[in-house]
Amino acid sequence: MTDARMENRAFWENEELKLDGQAYDAMWPGGEAAVNRLAKQGKQPARELIRKLVDPDTELFELSRLAGFGMFYPEVEDVPCGGIITGIGRIHGNWTMIVASDSRVKAGTYFPITLKKHMRAQAIAERCGLNCVYIADSGGAYLPMQADVFPDDQHFGSMFYNMARMSAMGLKQITLSTGGNTAGGAYIVFMACQSIMIDKMSYSFLGGPPLVKAATGEVISAEDLGGARVHTQISGGADHFCPNQDEAVAKVREILSLERPQKMHSHRYAEVPPRVPVESIYEMLPAKIHQGINTRSFLEAIADDSHFIEYKSQYAPGRGDNIVAGKLRIKGIPVGIIASNALGIIFAEAARKATEWIIRCSQEKVPLLFVQSSPGYMVGSESEHMGIGKYGADMVRSVSCAQVPRIQLVIGPDNGAANYGMCGRAYRPHFLFHTMRSRTSVMSGRSAAEVLLSIEERKRTGQGNPMSEGEKQAFRQQMMDKYDGEAHPFYCAARLLSDRVLKFREIRDWLAMAFEVSLLKPIGDPAFGNLRF
Ligand code: COA
Repeated sequence: MTDARMENRAFWENEELKLDGQAYDAMWPGGEAAVNRLAKQGKQPARELIRKLVDPDTELFELSRLAGFGMFYPEVEDVPCGGIITGIGRIHGNWTMIVASDSRVKAGTYFPITLKKHMRAQAIAERCGLNCVYIADSGGAYLPMQADVFPDDQHFGSMFYNMARMSAMGLKQITLSTGGNTAGGAYIVFMACQSIMIDKMSYSFLGGPPLVKAATGEVISAEDLGGARVHTQISGGADHFCPNQDEAVAKVREILSLERPQKMHSHRYAEVPPRVPVESIYEMLPAKIHQGINTRSFLEAIADDSHFIEYKSQYAPGRGDNIVAGKLRIKGIPVGIIASNALGIIFAEAARKATEWIIRCSQEKVPLLFVQSSPGYMVGSESEHMGIGKYGADMVRSVSCAQVPRIQLVIGPDNGAANYGMCGRAYRPHFLFHTMRSRTSVMSGRSAAEVLLSIEERKRTGQGNPMSEGEKQAFRQQMMDKYDGEAHPFYCAARLLSDRVLKFREIRDWLAMAFEVSLLKPIGDPAFGNLRF
């Protein structure tokens, strides 16, 4: 192995250790003390319940673990894991969305990021046609932020709106209550298609005992007001009574045991492992984010049999091949590819080729993978005169209108309009994955520093107080730190701008799961509107 490859490997392995550290903090808020506190209440950590809920020897594909760090909400700096666990796992073979409060994080209350994560999980479930299981143990809205979590669309009420609509579509909404579900939060029990409550552990009421006392003077215990017995024997608001969490989890599995088996709407070949090992990604991707990449090698490391069938490989060398297009299989599933190559700057020829390929894959109903490592479209008079604007717009239009499942994987710079053309969050990819090499921002720190410096210089000169060289350098550095910090995968993941930060060695497994889940619904017919060409 060359020195450069060894250095790359050492660098990325170290970066992924940081990822492990952040994930650990997300999964163990409050450490051992918090787990002991749960145990005293007869409760297991929610991830343990989920492990028992999914089929034996299968894993939960946990989404957005790094949500909620560094949010600086009133009195709360971090909300580890966003205070809620979401993920996709198999129950009796069927892919199912699981949403579980983590009561170790401020009693599982909903902060804005908790809601965003809950909504994202429901949106994936609705789009892909997944049943949902809610493991509910929440103090409801995080009250100091009620105005930011209660009244708006995509706030608290939308959770129940989504449940109602999904159940009307035939997607099962099952709630297992393992603790308090107060006020609006009670609806997660009552809106479910079937709900399970646990003796002396689950409570559900529109007003808890303190509110009841204040409002009516009635003094009553939580158990007598809205415990498991009340709702399964008297009110009928819940459907199953269980003595403990293990039996409750088994009940959820039993309820879902007669669901119709899911079917993928794509042909699938036998899985063949790549001949170029996935591990080689650690060596091939440069530690410097703005250094060019050899995307064909990268694709070989994720493709079945390392086989990539390239489209227009000879077209406009040095310009057209800053995007590589073609097809490969991931664990047997045929996938169309739009992948940044080399420095990733998108020239008109690359944009045209990408547009053609997106339309062809849509016609064939082949899902698309966008491998993003692009700092933007080519600028300058030559490019403008050639029509980079209109060809870029055609690419953005085709990405927007493509009716096939689309997944974005970011392995490098992700700036400006290239974020749009390569199917960034606003273009609603079915899944969006980052890696430790992702940098998502309107422009790179270096470019932002120069643009902002020129504005600041003009202002200061106008005020008769021109900037010194030292001041300019300090300003540049400050802007670079800010922009590069905000582009970092941790910053983006905290705000749910990705669905997961993947390790390189996880890419194949996650893509296979994501395409399979995205293909559970039939693919409609293509329509692209007004392309310019
Ligand atoms: N808003 C803000 N903070 C809340 C909260 C809420 N709705 N509910 C609980 N918390 C905080 C507590 O202040 C406590 O903070 P601390 O750790 O900094 O002291 C933390 O969450 C844990 O709460 P605690 O009461 O100690 O946990 P518990 O397991 O004993 O009880 C509940 C959990 C949910 C039963 C209980 O906290 C409760 O009844 N909360 C109020 C629920 C409510 O009325 N919600 C209405 C909003 S829709």
